[in-house]
Amino acid sequence: MKEKITLDYNNVMSEFIGSHGISKEEIDGIKDKVADAVSAMKSKRDTKMAWRNLPYNQDETVDEIISYVNEVKDGIEAFVVLGIGGSALGPAAVQQAINHPFYNELPRQARGGYPKLYVADNVDPERLPYLFDIIDPTKCLFNVISKSGSTSETMSQFMYIKDYLEKKIGAQAKSRIVCTTDKEKGNLIKIAKEEGYKTFIVPSLVGGRFSELTPVGLLPAAFCGVDIKELLKGAAYMDELCSVDELEKNPAYMYAALNYLGFKKGLNISVMMPYADSLKYIADWYAQLWAESLGKKYDLDGKVVNVGQTPVKALGVTDQHSQVQLYTEGPYDKIVVLIGVEEFRKTVTIPKLYSDMPSLGFLGGITQNKLIETEMMATEYALLVSGKPNMMITLPAVNEFTLGQLLFFFEVATGFSGELLHINAFDQPGVEEGKNATYAMFGRPGYEEKKAELDRRPAKKDAYII
Ligand code: PA5
Repeated sequence: MKEKITLDYNNVMSEFIGSHGISKEEIDGIKDKVADAVSAMKSKRDTKMAWRNLPYNQDETVDEIISYVNEVKDGIEAFVVLGIGGSALGPAAVQQAINHPFYNELPRQARGGYPKLYVADNVDPERLPYLFDIIDPTKCLFNVISKSGSTSETMSQFMYIKDYLEKKIGAQAKSRIVCTTDKEKGNLIKIAKEEGYKTFIVPSLVGGRFSELTPVGLLPAAFCGVDIKELLKGAAYMDELCSVDELEKNPAYMYAALNYLGFKKGLNISVMMPYADSLKYIADWYAQLWAESLGKKYDLDGKVVNVGQTPVKALGVTDQHSQVQLYTEGPYDKIVVLIGVEEFRKTVTIPKLYSDMPSLGFLGGITQNKLIETEMMATEYALLVSGKPNMMITLPAVNEFTLGQLLFFFEVATGFSGELLHINAFDQPGVEEGKNATYAMFGRPGYEEKKAELDRRPAKKDAYII
Protein backbone atom coordinates (compact mmCIF):
# COMPACT_ATOMS: atom_id res chain seq x y z
CA MET A 1 0.00 0.00 0.00
CA LYS A 2 1.67 3.19 -1.20
CA GLU A 3 0.02 5.45 1.35
CA LYS A 4 0.99 3.45 4.41
CA ILE A 5 2.78 5.35 7.14
CA THR A 6 5.81 3.60 8.60
CA LEU A 7 7.65 3.40 11.90
CA ASP A 8 11.43 2.99 11.75
CA TYR A 9 12.83 2.15 15.18
CA ASN A 10 16.35 1.11 14.22
CA ASN A 11 17.86 3.93 16.22
CA VAL A 12 16.22 2.93 19.45
CA MET A 13 17.94 -0.44 19.34
CA SER A 14 21.11 -0.84 21.38
CA GLU A 15 22.86 -2.49 18.44
CA PHE A 16 22.75 0.96 16.80
CA ILE A 17 23.06 3.41 19.68
CA GLY A 18 24.71 1.44 22.44
CA SER A 19 23.85 1.18 26.10
CA HIS A 20 21.02 3.71 26.22
CA GLY A 21 19.11 1.80 23.58
CA ILE A 22 16.82 -1.18 23.91
CA SER A 23 18.04 -4.68 23.16
CA LYS A 24 16.15 -7.54 21.55
CA GLU A 25 16.59 -9.42 24.83
CA GLU A 26 14.85 -6.63 26.70
CA ILE A 27 11.97 -6.79 24.24
CA ASP A 28 11.78 -10.57 24.63
CA GLY A 29 11.93 -10.08 28.38
CA ILE A 30 8.50 -8.44 28.46
CA LYS A 31 6.83 -11.13 26.36
CA ASP A 32 4.35 -12.07 29.08
CA LYS A 33 3.47 -8.45 29.79
CA VAL A 34 2.95 -7.90 26.07
CA ALA A 35 0.72 -10.97 25.83
CA ASP A 36 -1.42 -9.65 28.71
CA ALA A 37 -1.62 -6.23 27.09
CA VAL A 38 -2.59 -7.78 23.74
CA SER A 39 -5.49 -9.62 25.32
CA ALA A 40 -6.56 -6.54 27.30
CA MET A 41 -6.67 -4.58 24.03
CA LYS A 42 -9.11 -7.16 22.71
CA SER A 43 -11.26 -7.47 25.78
CA LYS A 44 -11.56 -3.70 26.24
CA ARG A 45 -12.39 -2.99 22.62
CA ASP A 46 -16.10 -2.58 23.24
CA THR A 47 -15.78 -0.83 26.58
CA LYS A 48 -12.86 1.38 27.61
CA MET A 49 -11.43 1.26 24.12
CA ALA A 50 -14.67 1.75 22.24
CA TRP A 51 -12.87 4.49 20.28
CA ARG A 52 -11.30 1.64 18.28
CA ASN A 53 -14.65 1.01 16.63
CA LEU A 54 -15.12 4.61 15.49
CA PRO A 55 -13.77 4.03 11.96
CA TYR A 56 -16.54 1.47 11.39
CA ASN A 57 -19.67 2.51 13.21
CA GLN A 58 -20.32 6.08 12.19
CA ASP A 59 -21.83 5.91 8.70
CA GLU A 60 -25.04 7.59 9.80
CA THR A 61 -23.23 10.23 11.84
CA VAL A 62 -20.95 11.05 8.92
CA ASP A 63 -23.93 11.42 6.57
CA GLU A 64 -25.68 13.65 9.07
CA ILE A 65 -22.57 15.82 9.47
CA ILE A 66 -22.09 16.19 5.73
CA SER A 67 -25.69 17.12 5.05
CA TYR A 68 -25.72 19.59 7.96
CA VAL A 69 -22.53 21.21 6.66
CA ASN A 70 -23.98 21.48 3.17
CA GLU A 71 -27.17 22.94 4.53
CA VAL A 72 -25.63 25.73 6.63
CA LYS A 73 -22.11 26.47 5.39
CA ASP A 74 -23.08 29.08 2.82
CA GLY A 75 -24.88 31.11 5.45
CA ILE A 76 -21.90 31.53 7.77
CA GLU A 77 -18.59 33.34 7.52
CA ALA A 78 -16.75 31.43 10.22
CA PHE A 79 -17.11 28.25 12.23
CA VAL A 80 -15.87 28.75 15.79
CA VAL A 81 -15.02 25.85 18.08
CA LEU A 82 -15.67 26.46 21.78
CA GLY A 83 -13.88 23.64 23.54
CA ILE A 84 -10.70 22.82 25.42
CA GLY A 85 -8.32 19.86 25.76
CA GLY A 86 -9.59 16.88 23.82
CA SER A 87 -12.38 19.06 22.49
CA ALA A 88 -10.04 21.57 20.85
CA LEU A 89 -6.61 20.08 20.11
CA GLY A 90 -7.81 17.56 17.53
CA PRO A 91 -9.95 20.01 15.53
CA ALA A 92 -7.01 22.46 15.41
CA ALA A 93 -4.49 19.77 14.45
CA VAL A 94 -6.57 18.27 11.65
CA GLN A 95 -7.46 21.61 10.11
CA GLN A 96 -3.80 22.71 10.19
CA ALA A 97 -2.61 19.43 8.69
CA ILE A 98 -4.97 19.29 5.77
CA ASN A 99 -5.70 22.86 4.81
CA HIS A 100 -3.71 25.75 3.47
CA PRO A 101 -1.53 27.16 6.29
CA PHE A 102 -3.18 30.56 5.83
CA TYR A 103 -6.64 29.06 5.29
CA ASN A 104 -8.52 31.84 7.05
CA GLU A 105 -6.77 34.52 5.03
CA LEU A 106 -7.73 32.97 1.70
CA PRO A 107 -10.70 34.30 -0.23
CA ARG A 108 -13.77 32.14 0.25
CA GLN A 109 -13.57 30.63 -3.21
CA ALA A 110 -10.02 29.44 -2.56
CA ARG A 111 -11.32 27.82 0.62
CA GLY A 112 -13.60 25.72 -1.54
CA GLY A 113 -16.56 27.83 -0.43
CA TYR A 114 -16.12 26.76 3.18
CA PRO A 115 -16.22 29.17 6.14
CA LYS A 116 -13.18 30.22 8.13
CA LEU A 117 -12.35 28.16 11.20
CA TYR A 118 -11.31 29.38 14.64
CA VAL A 119 -10.69 27.39 17.80
CA ALA A 120 -11.35 29.55 20.89
CA ASP A 121 -9.81 27.06 23.35
CA ASN A 122 -8.47 29.11 26.28
CA VAL A 123 -10.36 31.40 28.64
CA ASP A 124 -7.80 34.15 28.38
CA PRO A 125 -10.15 37.15 28.66
CA GLU A 126 -8.50 38.75 25.65
CA ARG A 127 -9.34 35.91 23.31
CA LEU A 128 -13.03 36.28 22.50
CA PRO A 129 -13.12 40.10 22.46
CA TYR A 130 -10.15 40.14 20.09
CA LEU A 131 -11.73 37.42 17.97
CA PHE A 132 -14.84 39.58 17.75
CA ASP A 133 -12.66 42.33 16.25
CA ILE A 134 -12.13 40.18 13.17
CA ILE A 135 -15.39 38.24 12.87
CA ASP A 136 -19.01 39.25 12.97
CA PRO A 137 -20.35 36.79 15.56
CA THR A 138 -23.87 37.11 14.20
CA LYS A 139 -22.62 35.60 10.92
CA CYS A 140 -20.78 32.71 12.56
CA LEU A 141 -21.66 29.26 13.78
CA PHE A 142 -20.39 28.45 17.29
CA ASN A 143 -19.76 24.79 18.04
CA VAL A 144 -19.87 24.19 21.79
CA ILE A 145 -17.92 20.96 22.29
CA SER A 146 -17.86 19.34 25.69
CA LYS A 147 -18.09 15.63 26.35
CA SER A 148 -18.85 16.17 30.02
CA GLY A 149 -21.09 19.08 29.20
CA SER A 150 -19.90 21.01 32.22
CA THR A 151 -16.31 22.14 31.66
CA SER A 152 -16.12 25.66 33.10
CA GLU A 153 -13.92 27.09 30.34
CA THR A 154 -16.15 25.92 27.51
CA MET A 155 -19.38 26.71 29.29
CA SER A 156 -18.16 30.21 30.14
CA GLN A 157 -17.46 30.79 26.45
CA PHE A 158 -20.87 29.42 25.56
CA MET A 159 -22.61 31.70 28.08
CA TYR A 160 -20.73 34.74 26.83
CA ILE A 161 -21.63 34.03 23.22
CA LYS A 162 -25.23 33.04 23.82
CA ASP A 163 -25.78 36.26 25.73
CA TYR A 164 -24.02 38.31 23.06
CA LEU A 165 -25.99 36.73 20.22
CA GLU A 166 -29.34 36.98 21.96
CA LYS A 167 -28.77 40.67 22.57
CA LYS A 168 -27.88 41.20 18.92
CA ILE A 169 -30.19 38.87 17.03
CA GLY A 170 -32.73 37.64 19.56
CA ALA A 171 -34.34 34.32 18.78
CA GLN A 172 -32.12 33.78 15.74
CA ALA A 173 -29.23 33.12 18.13
CA LYS A 174 -30.42 29.55 18.30
CA SER A 175 -29.40 28.90 14.71
CA ARG A 176 -25.87 30.16 15.46
CA ILE A 177 -25.08 27.53 18.06
CA VAL A 178 -24.47 23.81 17.58
CA CYS A 179 -23.57 21.52 20.45
CA THR A 180 -21.42 18.39 20.57
CA THR A 181 -21.79 16.48 23.81
CA ASP A 182 -22.81 13.30 25.60
CA LYS A 183 -26.31 12.07 24.89
CA GLU A 184 -27.46 12.34 28.49
CA LYS A 185 -24.75 13.43 30.92
CA GLY A 186 -23.95 17.02 31.85
CA ASN A 187 -25.51 20.45 31.58
CA LEU A 188 -24.92 21.00 27.89
CA ILE A 189 -27.28 18.30 26.62
CA LYS A 190 -29.94 19.56 29.02
CA ILE A 191 -29.53 23.12 27.77
CA ALA A 192 -29.38 22.00 24.14
CA LYS A 193 -32.65 20.12 24.49
CA GLU A 194 -34.40 22.86 26.39
CA GLU A 195 -33.22 25.67 24.14
CA GLY A 196 -33.43 23.67 20.91
CA TYR A 197 -29.84 23.70 19.63
CA LYS A 198 -28.79 21.34 16.88
CA THR A 199 -26.75 18.65 18.63
CA PHE A 200 -24.24 15.97 17.71
CA ILE A 201 -23.50 13.18 20.15
CA VAL A 202 -20.14 11.98 21.46
CA PRO A 203 -20.45 8.21 22.05
CA SER A 204 -20.70 7.71 25.80
CA LEU A 205 -17.76 5.30 26.05
CA VAL A 206 -15.34 7.60 24.20
CA GLY A 207 -13.38 10.05 26.35
CA GLY A 208 -12.20 13.55 25.42
CA ARG A 209 -8.68 12.93 24.14
CA PHE A 210 -9.77 9.86 22.17
CA SER A 211 -12.70 11.66 20.57
CA GLU A 212 -11.14 13.32 17.53
CA LEU A 213 -12.78 10.79 15.22
CA THR A 214 -16.25 11.41 16.66
CA PRO A 215 -18.32 14.53 15.84
CA VAL A 216 -15.92 16.38 18.18
CA GLY A 217 -13.39 16.41 15.37
CA LEU A 218 -15.45 15.36 12.37
CA LEU A 219 -17.86 18.30 12.44
CA PRO A 220 -15.22 21.08 12.52
CA ALA A 221 -13.18 19.15 9.94
CA ALA A 222 -16.14 18.82 7.58
CA PHE A 223 -16.89 22.52 8.03
CA CYS A 224 -13.49 23.40 6.63
CA GLY A 225 -13.60 21.01 3.72
CA VAL A 226 -11.71 18.04 5.14
CA ASP A 227 -12.77 14.70 3.67
CA ILE A 228 -13.90 13.01 6.87
CA LYS A 229 -14.69 9.72 5.16
CA GLU A 230 -11.05 9.45 4.05
CA LEU A 231 -9.91 10.34 7.56
CA LEU A 232 -11.92 7.43 8.93
CA LYS A 233 -10.67 5.13 6.15
CA GLY A 234 -7.11 5.96 7.17
CA ALA A 235 -7.98 5.16 10.77
CA ALA A 236 -9.59 1.86 9.74
CA TYR A 237 -6.49 0.93 7.77
CA MET A 238 -4.26 1.63 10.79
CA ASP A 239 -6.66 -0.31 12.99
CA GLU A 240 -6.08 -3.33 10.76
CA LEU A 241 -2.31 -2.91 10.98
CA CYS A 242 -2.60 -2.62 14.74
CA SER A 243 -4.83 -5.63 15.17
CA VAL A 244 -1.94 -8.06 14.70
CA ASP A 245 -0.90 -9.73 17.97
CA GLU A 246 2.79 -10.01 17.12
CA LEU A 247 4.75 -7.09 18.52
CA GLU A 248 7.26 -7.06 15.65
CA LYS A 249 4.45 -6.63 13.12
CA ASN A 250 2.30 -4.16 15.02
CA PRO A 251 3.65 -0.60 14.76
CA ALA A 252 1.62 0.88 17.61
CA TYR A 253 2.37 -1.99 19.98
CA MET A 254 6.08 -1.76 19.16
CA TYR A 255 6.07 2.03 19.66
CA ALA A 256 4.45 1.53 23.05
CA ALA A 257 6.76 -1.34 24.07
CA LEU A 258 9.90 0.64 23.19
CA ASN A 259 8.69 3.66 25.13
CA TYR A 260 7.74 1.42 28.05
CA LEU A 261 11.18 -0.20 28.12
CA GLY A 262 12.82 3.19 27.61
CA PHE A 263 10.86 4.69 30.48
CA LYS A 264 11.99 1.85 32.74
CA LYS A 265 15.59 2.83 32.04
CA GLY A 266 15.18 6.56 32.53
CA LEU A 267 13.98 7.75 29.12
CA ASN A 268 11.39 9.94 30.78
CA ILE A 269 10.72 12.29 27.89
CA SER A 270 8.92 11.68 24.62
CA VAL A 271 9.88 14.33 22.08
CA MET A 272 7.54 14.68 19.11
CA MET A 273 9.23 16.51 16.28
CA PRO A 274 7.43 16.67 12.95
CA TYR A 275 9.42 18.01 10.04
CA ALA A 276 6.41 19.70 8.47
CA ASP A 277 4.53 22.84 9.48
CA SER A 278 1.31 21.06 8.64
CA LEU A 279 1.95 18.56 11.45
CA LYS A 280 3.02 21.07 14.08
CA TYR A 281 -0.26 20.84 15.99
CA ILE A 282 -0.22 17.05 15.83
CA ALA A 283 2.59 17.36 18.36
CA ASP A 284 0.25 19.38 20.61
CA TRP A 285 -2.51 16.82 20.21
CA TYR A 286 -0.05 13.99 20.95
CA ALA A 287 1.27 15.80 24.02
CA GLN A 288 -2.19 15.78 25.60
CA LEU A 289 -2.92 12.20 24.60
CA TRP A 290 0.37 10.88 25.97
CA ALA A 291 0.52 13.03 29.11
CA GLU A 292 -3.07 12.86 30.28
CA SER A 293 -3.45 9.18 29.50
CA LEU A 294 -0.17 7.85 30.85
CA GLY A 295 0.83 10.22 33.63
CA LYS A 296 -0.65 8.37 36.61
CA LYS A 297 0.00 8.06 40.32
CA TYR A 298 -1.69 4.71 40.89
CA ASP A 299 -1.66 1.49 38.93
CA LEU A 300 -4.71 -0.70 38.41
CA ASP A 301 -4.07 -2.43 41.75
CA GLY A 302 -4.03 0.86 43.63
CA LYS A 303 -0.25 0.82 44.09
CA VAL A 304 1.55 4.18 43.90
CA VAL A 305 3.65 4.11 40.73
CA ASN A 306 3.96 7.74 39.52
CA VAL A 307 4.54 6.78 35.89
CA GLY A 308 4.45 8.57 32.55
CA GLN A 309 6.83 10.11 30.05
CA THR A 310 6.73 13.88 29.66
CA PRO A 311 5.85 14.80 26.09
CA VAL A 312 7.80 17.64 24.52
CA LYS A 313 6.70 19.37 21.33
CA ALA A 314 9.27 20.37 18.77
CA LEU A 315 9.25 21.36 15.12
CA GLY A 316 11.80 20.41 12.49
CA VAL A 317 13.84 22.16 11.30
CA THR A 318 13.03 25.16 13.52
CA ASP A 319 14.07 23.39 16.71
CA GLN A 320 17.37 22.28 15.20
CA HIS A 321 18.31 25.84 16.03
CA SER A 322 17.20 25.55 19.63
CA GLN A 323 16.27 22.25 21.32
CA VAL A 324 18.32 19.82 19.26
CA GLN A 325 21.51 20.87 21.04
CA LEU A 326 19.97 19.49 24.23
CA TYR A 327 18.68 16.37 22.51
CA THR A 328 22.10 15.44 21.17
CA GLU A 329 24.37 16.46 24.04
CA GLY A 330 22.08 16.63 27.07
CA PRO A 331 21.06 13.81 29.39
CA TYR A 332 20.02 10.37 28.22
CA ASP A 333 16.42 10.90 29.21
CA LYS A 334 14.50 11.11 25.93
CA ILE A 335 13.21 9.22 22.96
CA VAL A 336 13.03 11.62 20.04
CA VAL A 337 10.38 10.88 17.44
CA LEU A 338 10.97 12.53 14.08
CA ILE A 339 8.02 12.67 11.71
CA GLY A 340 8.96 13.00 8.06
CA VAL A 341 6.87 13.63 4.96
CA GLU A 342 8.00 12.18 1.64
CA GLU A 343 5.97 14.37 -0.67
CA PHE A 344 5.11 17.93 0.21
CA ARG A 345 2.25 19.76 -1.51
CA LYS A 346 4.60 22.37 -2.89
CA THR A 347 8.10 22.38 -4.35
CA VAL A 348 10.46 25.28 -3.92
CA THR A 349 13.65 25.24 -5.97
CA ILE A 350 16.44 27.42 -4.66
CA PRO A 351 17.77 29.63 -7.46
CA LYS A 352 21.37 29.14 -8.57
CA LEU A 353 22.80 32.30 -7.11
CA TYR A 354 26.17 33.12 -5.52
CA SER A 355 27.96 30.21 -7.18
CA ASP A 356 31.24 32.02 -6.45
CA MET A 357 30.58 31.60 -2.70
CA PRO A 358 30.90 27.86 -1.99
CA SER A 359 29.19 28.14 1.42
CA LEU A 360 26.04 29.43 -0.31
CA GLY A 361 26.50 28.15 -3.83
CA PHE A 362 25.86 24.52 -2.83
CA LEU A 363 22.23 25.43 -2.17
CA GLY A 364 21.62 26.60 -5.73
CA GLY A 365 19.44 24.28 -7.76
CA ILE A 366 18.34 22.04 -4.88
CA THR A 367 14.81 22.16 -3.53
CA GLN A 368 13.70 23.15 -0.05
CA ASN A 369 11.96 19.78 -0.09
CA LYS A 370 15.38 18.12 -0.32
CA LEU A 371 16.77 20.55 2.23
CA ILE A 372 14.20 19.77 4.92
CA GLU A 373 14.52 16.03 4.26
CA THR A 374 18.31 16.18 4.40
CA GLU A 375 18.26 18.20 7.60
CA MET A 376 15.97 15.63 9.17
CA MET A 377 18.36 12.84 8.16
CA ALA A 378 21.21 14.92 9.55
CA THR A 379 19.42 15.32 12.90
CA GLU A 380 18.74 11.61 12.93
CA TYR A 381 22.46 11.04 12.36
CA ALA A 382 23.48 13.54 15.05
CA LEU A 383 21.23 11.73 17.53
CA LEU A 384 22.56 8.37 16.42
CA VAL A 385 26.24 9.27 16.87
CA SER A 386 25.55 10.71 20.29
CA GLY A 387 23.80 7.49 21.30
CA LYS A 388 20.41 9.15 21.75
CA PRO A 389 17.36 6.92 21.10
CA ASN A 390 15.25 8.15 18.21
CA MET A 391 12.60 6.84 15.84
CA MET A 392 11.21 8.00 12.58
CA ILE A 393 7.60 7.98 11.45
CA THR A 394 7.20 8.61 7.73
CA LEU A 395 4.08 9.80 5.95
CA PRO A 396 4.14 9.35 2.15
CA ALA A 397 2.22 12.65 2.04
CA VAL A 398 -0.04 14.58 4.38
CA ASN A 399 -3.64 13.90 3.44
CA GLU A 400 -6.79 12.68 5.14
CA PHE A 401 -5.89 9.01 4.68
CA THR A 402 -2.41 9.27 6.18
CA LEU A 403 -3.57 11.64 8.90
CA GLY A 404 -6.30 9.19 9.93
CA GLN A 405 -3.57 6.54 10.19
CA LEU A 406 -1.32 8.78 12.26
CA LEU A 407 -4.02 9.75 14.76
CA PHE A 408 -5.12 6.18 15.16
CA PHE A 409 -1.55 4.91 15.46
CA PHE A 410 -0.93 7.20 18.43
CA GLU A 411 -4.26 6.33 20.03
CA VAL A 412 -3.59 2.58 19.85
CA ALA A 413 -0.02 3.14 21.06
CA THR A 414 -1.37 5.11 24.02
CA GLY A 415 -3.94 2.43 24.87
CA PHE A 416 -1.30 -0.29 24.65
CA SER A 417 1.16 1.75 26.74
CA GLY A 418 -1.50 2.07 29.42
CA GLU A 419 -1.81 -1.72 29.49
CA LEU A 420 1.96 -2.22 29.70
CA LEU A 421 2.18 0.29 32.53
CA HIS A 422 -0.83 -1.41 34.13
CA ILE A 423 -2.62 1.89 34.64
CA ASN A 424 -5.95 3.36 33.60
CA ALA A 425 -5.14 5.41 30.49
CA PHE A 426 -8.69 6.71 30.27
CA ASP A 427 -9.17 8.73 33.43
CA GLN A 428 -7.59 12.00 34.56
CA PRO A 429 -7.81 12.36 38.35
CA GLY A 430 -4.99 14.90 38.33
CA VAL A 431 -6.98 17.16 36.02
CA GLU A 432 -10.11 16.66 38.10
CA GLU A 433 -8.21 17.81 41.19
CA GLY A 434 -7.54 21.16 39.54
CA LYS A 435 -11.14 21.42 38.31
CA ASN A 436 -12.48 20.68 41.79
CA ALA A 437 -10.16 23.20 43.40
CA THR A 438 -11.46 25.84 40.97
CA TYR A 439 -15.07 25.01 41.87
CA ALA A 440 -14.21 25.17 45.57
CA MET A 441 -12.51 28.55 45.20
CA PHE A 442 -15.65 29.88 43.55
CA GLY A 443 -17.77 28.48 46.37
CA ARG A 444 -19.73 26.19 44.07
CA PRO A 445 -22.35 24.26 46.06
CA GLY A 446 -21.22 20.72 46.80
CA TYR A 447 -17.55 21.67 47.09
CA GLU A 448 -17.58 22.87 50.70
CA GLU A 449 -15.30 20.07 51.89
CA LYS A 450 -12.80 20.77 49.15
CA LYS A 451 -12.90 24.46 50.10
CA ALA A 452 -12.13 23.57 53.72
CA GLU A 453 -9.28 21.36 52.54
CA LEU A 454 -7.91 24.24 50.45
CA ASP A 455 -8.17 26.63 53.36
CA ARG A 456 -5.97 24.31 55.40
CA ARG A 457 -3.07 24.56 52.97
CA PRO A 458 0.02 26.30 54.38
CA ALA A 459 0.04 30.05 53.92
CA LYS A 460 2.75 31.35 51.57
CA LYS A 461 5.71 33.13 53.17
CA ASP A 462 6.52 36.65 52.04
CA ALA A 463 10.19 35.78 52.47
CA TYR A 464 9.97 33.54 49.43
CA ILE A 465 8.41 36.21 47.22
CA ILE A 466 11.00 38.59 45.82
O1 PA5 B 1 -9.16 14.08 27.59
C1 PA5 B 1 -9.94 14.60 28.36
O2 PA5 B 1 -10.86 13.96 28.88
C2 PA5 B 1 -9.86 16.06 28.68
O3 PA5 B 1 -8.72 16.66 28.20
C3 PA5 B 1 -11.07 16.77 28.11
O4 PA5 B 1 -11.07 16.65 26.72
C4 PA5 B 1 -11.12 18.25 28.51
O5 PA5 B 1 -11.00 18.38 29.89
C5 PA5 B 1 -12.42 18.87 28.05
O6 PA5 B 1 -13.48 18.13 28.56
P1 PA5 B 1 -14.93 18.22 27.99
O7 PA5 B 1 -14.92 17.77 26.56
O8 PA5 B 1 -15.72 17.33 28.85
O9 PA5 B 1 -15.34 19.65 28.10
